Parts: sequence; C-alpha cells; structure tokens
Amino acid sequence: MKKTTKWLCALFSATALFASVGASAKDLRLGLIVPGTHAWTQAAQAMGDELKERSEGKYSVSVFPAGQLGSEARMLQQLQTGALDMAFMTTAEIANRVPDFGALFAPYLVKDVVQAGQLLNGPAAQGLLTQLPAKAGVVGLGYGVAGMRLMLNAFPTDSVDAVEGRKMRITPFPPVQDFYRLLGAAATPMPITDVYDALANGQVDGVDADLELIWKLRLHERAKTVLQSNHMMFPVIGLMSGRIWAQTGEEDRKLIRELARKHLDSLTAQYAQSEAQTQASIEESGIKVTQVGPEFFGDKLQQWEDIWMKKTPVLADLRKEAAALAQ
Ligand code: BEZ
Repeated sequence: MKKTTKWLCALFSATALFASVGASAKDLRLGLIVPGTHAWTQAAQAMGDELKERSEGKYSVSVFPAGQLGSEARMLQQLQTGALDMAFMTTAEIANRVPDFGALFAPYLVKDVVQAGQLLNGPAAQGLLTQLPAKAGVVGLGYGVAGMRLMLNAFPTDSVDAVEGRKMRITPFPPVQDFYRLLGAAATPMPITDVYDALANGQVDGVDADLELIWKLRLHERAKTVLQSNHMMFPVIGLMSGRIWAQTGEEDRKLIRELARKHLDSLTAQYAQSEAQTQASIEESGIKVTQVGPEFFGDKLQQWEDIWMKKTPVLADLRKEAAALAQ
C-alpha cells in the first residue's frame, strides 16, 4: 500500500472511531429545584462524575439546579415526554401522582435521618418504586434523605394551639395538607424559594421546612423561633425518564441505577454529620431553637393516622418496619 493510501486509511478509521464514540456518547440532563449549594445537588454532581468515569465517557451528566428547568411538576412532565433525562426531586411531587407514596410522610415514622435512610432502603419503600413506570411514566432509581421537618415561625410557639389560624407555608401534597389542616393552620402552598420574601411581608407566619433550607436560604433572618419537631422525613427520589430508560441497554441501566443509589444513599451520613453544625449556626444567629416531640401535637397525630391508614395499606407496612428499626 502506498504511503498516502495508508495515511488516508488511518485517518478514515480514526474518524470512524471518533464518530461512533460521539454518536453513542450521551449527556444526561438532570434537574433539581434546590440551589447549587444544597446537598442533593452535590450528590447529583458526584453521581455524574462517577458515571462519566465508570462508563469511560459514554455518559455524562449536566446538572441544572435551582429550578432552572422549572418547578418539579414541570420537570416531571418533561421526564414523561423524554424532554428531560433525570431529576432528583422531592418525593412530595411523586406523592401527588401516586397516592401510596404519601405514607412515607407519616408523622414520627422515624426518629432521625439515620432511621429514615434505613427505612427508605426497606421492602415497603422500595416496593413503592415499582409503581412508577406504569403510574407516572418514570423509573425510580432510589431515595435519599433531607433533614427532618420542623417549623420556622415568626410567632412564639409554646403550644400546638399557637399554630391554629396561622398562615403556614407548606409544600402542597396530601399528607402535609392533612397534617396542617388538623393543626387548624391556614396551609399556604408556596415553593420554598419564595418563602424569604413571604415571611418578610407577612404573607406567611411560619414555614414547614428543615434546618438546611432555613440556613442556606437565610430564612432565619425573617423569623424568631425554630420549633424543632422533627415531625416527618422528607425523602428525595432519583428519577429517570421512562422513555429514555427504554432506549438504554441493560448494562448501562445497571450502572446508572447503582450510582444513583450510591450517591442518594450517601446523603444519610452527610445529614447525620452536618445537622448539629447547621443547628449551631442558626442558634448563633440569635434564633431560639425549641425541641419538641410527638406529645406536642396531642391527639392530632392519631387523627392523621386514622385518615391515612384508610388511604393506603403501605402505611401499616412502613410502621411495622420502622418499629423493628427502633429496637
Ligand atoms: C420543600 O418544598 O420544602 C423542599 C424543597 C426542596 C427540598 C426539600 C424541601
């Protein structure tokens, strides 16, 4: 073979190889509503880095935090059509579509983030994920935790009666709506990103949130009291578009699922370690943190339980598994 022909052959093979890698390389777009500094966003970025490395460049992940792709409801629609590949979102949004997920928000189901992480890896919570392709057009890759829920209030909260009649910001979905309705509050649906101004202008008197959101969104600048009730867990769920999943090979699915689970799961240790520091920072800023347990809510909790035991059989399974963890 002549030298020029050899050179052209080599160039052709290199171009063909490059084209084939380029054609199969896929950038997965992943959306979140939390800010870039939030632990969920960092977990998504770490997952993307590891996926790129383990797939030898076949996959990369572009992370869009802070609601750049719209609300969670909007992102869920995009996942359903395949316009978005992945999302890490509150399980609240999923509970709006698949009612059984509401059981994960039972008051005092777990006592802390460590138990939350354990329960989310148990059979009842994992079993819920199997409902997602048929009922929501998405694949549930796994769960992670956020901080336990509490209230940040602009009014003294010495008893549960103090919450009655107050405008409380909530994430709107049935288990939390029922909780605040039973407390007699005027539950006010609002994205967490709007709460800072809403507290300042009196649109709300208090907010259902967690320590990390209070600190990272500086909500403590606008209120007096943290009622550290730890009344619910608030899981994040890793989702992939059902349409994109259908176009993904078995080996790749395995890898994506493994890494999503790993990085979502890592949130438990992170929150367990960071919560005390976040609380100390909030206290140093002059905010009173009052710790209360289930007794603070009196008979409201049993009323919630009675409603939800009728709504979903998953609640009884979760309570059983949770009781075994507590021993
Ligand atoms: C909330 O709506 O309270 C929320 C949003 C994102 C992450 C965690 C909680």
